[in-house]
Amino acid sequence: MLDKNIDLNGKRVLVTGAAGFIGSNLCKELLKEFKNIHIYGIDNMNDYYDPKIKNDRLKEVEALADSSESGEFDFVRGSIADRDLIDNLFSDFKPEVVVNLAAQAGVRYSIENPDAYIEANLIGFYNILEACRHSYDAVKSDANSDYKGVEHLVYASSSSVYGSNKKIPYSVEDKVDNPVSLYAATKKSNELLAHAYSKLYGIPSTGLRFFTVYGPAGRPDMAYFGFTNKLVNGDKIKIFNYGNCKRDFTYVDDIVKGVVNVMQVAPAENENGVKYKVYNIGNNDPVNLLDFVDILQQELISAGVLPQDYDFEAHKELVPMQPGDVEVTYADVTALQEDFGFKPATPLRDGLRAFAKWYKEVYC
Ligand SMILES: NC(=O)c1ccc[n+]([C@@H]2O[C@H](COP(=O)([O-])OP(=O)(O)OC[C@H]3O[C@@H](n4cnc5c(N)ncnc54)[C@H](O)[C@@H]3O)[C@@H](O)[C@H]2O)c1
Repeated sequence: MLDKNIDLNGKRVLVTGAAGFIGSNLCKELLKEFKNIHIYGIDNMNDYYDPKIKNDRLKEVEALADSSESGEFDFVRGSIADRDLIDNLFSDFKPEVVVNLAAQAGVRYSIENPDAYIEANLIGFYNILEACRHSYDAVKSDANSDYKGVEHLVYASSSSVYGSNKKIPYSVEDKVDNPVSLYAATKKSNELLAHAYSKLYGIPSTGLRFFTVYGPAGRPDMAYFGFTNKLVNGDKIKIFNYGNCKRDFTYVDDIVKGVVNVMQVAPAENENGVKYKVYNIGNNDPVNLLDFVDILQQELISAGVLPQDYDFEAHKELVPMQPGDVEVTYADVTALQEDFGFKPATPLRDGLRAFAKWYKEVYC
């Protein structure tokens, strides 16, 4: 296990994408776990999916901050692609830890809306890197300040960087130079840019390749959410490869615990003199898609989202594999376990139960 070298108590933490699914849950966990923590959240609240969900998440974070004895949460609505906004935010707030979760996500959306990916994932991330770089100038210009500049930049990458990698489980040692979507290309670029900035300016950085994250107030563009909407509307859901696809699903609370662990350990210099790490953060426990959907519909029935006599058989269609799809994908999380002792603990049924309860409250 690595020793913690950042104490988040009393720290100033910038979270981009703070109204997002993972970002809002991260802000809540930080407010609960640490004393005198001051979080600055930024999000442009775009309408890629229903912004009401983002507003609701923000309200929860703000309510928690209001009831917290010592934690603070400030929020600005704006884009990380806005250079002046980011530079001003860094010079006024002086973040000590930065977690970059703002991004345009989704693979299919990038076909119609490539600009959104370049803006958020490339220009936005570049602005964050530049601001981290110049955070050290602030230290030099004010000898009396105890601000040390950014001590750790943690940023979201994605399992999509593995593209059509044949080797399972996916390991950070695998060569991932063949992205098959613009989204994946931007995420891989983030890792490359972070490496260069870590080497050139000494920014300690950790990239996290997330595997499918699910949970309450999750993203409506993701398959489990789409399945739920379809089942509720009485539509049929298509289950590829006749259900014999295995995927890694990680409950959001587990992911957030992993991110919080990682935030507290800025990487030491590696053999190339770079303070740089990339980890997979997933479950390492692939689930058969048919089993996943079966448990989902059972929990939707228990929560009262679907009627007790719901005819699941009539609403599922088992279809062949889609071209280019892979049968099994899951994460090799050995490094994360060895370095942080982190392992997701939430059973799939419990996670889907929490999602179903939330869905019932919000949509039924
Ligand atoms: N959820 C997953 O399963 C998953 C898997 C792999 C990678 N990721 C990555 O993790 C991160 C968080 O994902 P999430 O599931 O919470 O997604 P999300 O879409 O819920 O959160 C991202 C947030 O960023 C905001 N945003 C987008 N562009 C912005 C910009 N230019 N400036 C400021 N804010 C902007 C959005 O409004 C949104 O609230 C993303 O970088 C995503 O690519 C997530």
